[in-house]
Amino acid sequence: MIVLDGVCKAFGPRVILDGLTLDVPDGRNTVIIGRSGSGKSVTLRCIVGLLQPDAGAVRVDDVVVGELDRDGLTALRSRIGYVFQFAALFDSMTVAENIALGLTRRGIDAPEIAERVRESLALVDLAGTEAKYPAELSGGMRKRVGIARAVALRPRYILYDEPTTGLDPMTTATMDELMIRTRDLGVTGVVVSHDMKSAFAVGDRIAMLHQGRIHRMGSADEMRASDDPVVRAFIEGRPDHAVAAR
Ligand SMILES: Nc1ncnc2c1ncn2[C@@H]1O[C@H](COP(=O)(O)OP(=O)(O)O)[C@@H](O)[C@H]1O
Ligand SMILES: [Mg+2]
Repeated sequence: MIVLDGVCKAFGPRVILDGLTLDVPDGRNTVIIGRSGSGKSVTLRCIVGLLQPDAGAVRVDDVVVGELDRDGLTALRSRIGYVFQFAALFDSMTVAENIALGLTRRGIDAPEIAERVRESLALVDLAGTEAKYPAELSGGMRKRVGIARAVALRPRYILYDEPTTGLDPMTTATMDELMIRTRDLGVTGVVVSHDMKSAFAVGDRIAMLHQGRIHRMGSADEMRASDDPVVRAFIEGRPDHAVAAR
């Protein structure tokens, strides 16, 4: 389980996270929504130890991320897949090589790697694309390879940063479907999004980040029915000056 406990993070005078507390239950998808600049990506970076909180703690499986040494962080990251906002594939490598990279680093042998590459590509409906180069794929396909790369590591958790931003509605629906598939495989998902439709589709729980904390949290139905002004303004896409993000 991932637990954020009173996490604070500032950059200079700018307070981004201000005592953020959130439990991420296992085996479900938790979606963190919030305005652009509200600290969603910073939150994910704190979970994997790419950023250190100024105060508070992140615990993953009862281990405090901030107390891990280099080997501890490596072990942590082998349990956490990260799907970046941009696919971040290496253009000079094939799809299979891109997916294999993290597996080779972990000392997994070649036949096992080939099997995991095949299996993870099948999961994202890209079977048989091993030898293709990223440039030969559409934007949506590259995003799916990003998911395959995370899944191939057989992580316990996958963090998705804005997986549907900039995608057309069809491709967005496909990404949503894949995030549900990974959840159904038993992987715990933390999805950062500002796309409400997608959040409602994939989120077993939706947590709204606002002014550095979780402002409201609930199921899709609960959030849809919420009469909280901050939640309503966000869901309805209104620029609400009274509740403007910091
Ligand atoms: N490493 C950093 N150094 C300075 N400022 C940062 C850094 N990372 C993020 N920020 C700032 O923190 C704020 C929140 O960023 P981010 O978490 O990326 O927002 P979002 O919710 O859109 O993902 C932004 O104003 C961003 O400019
Ligand atoms: Mg972001």
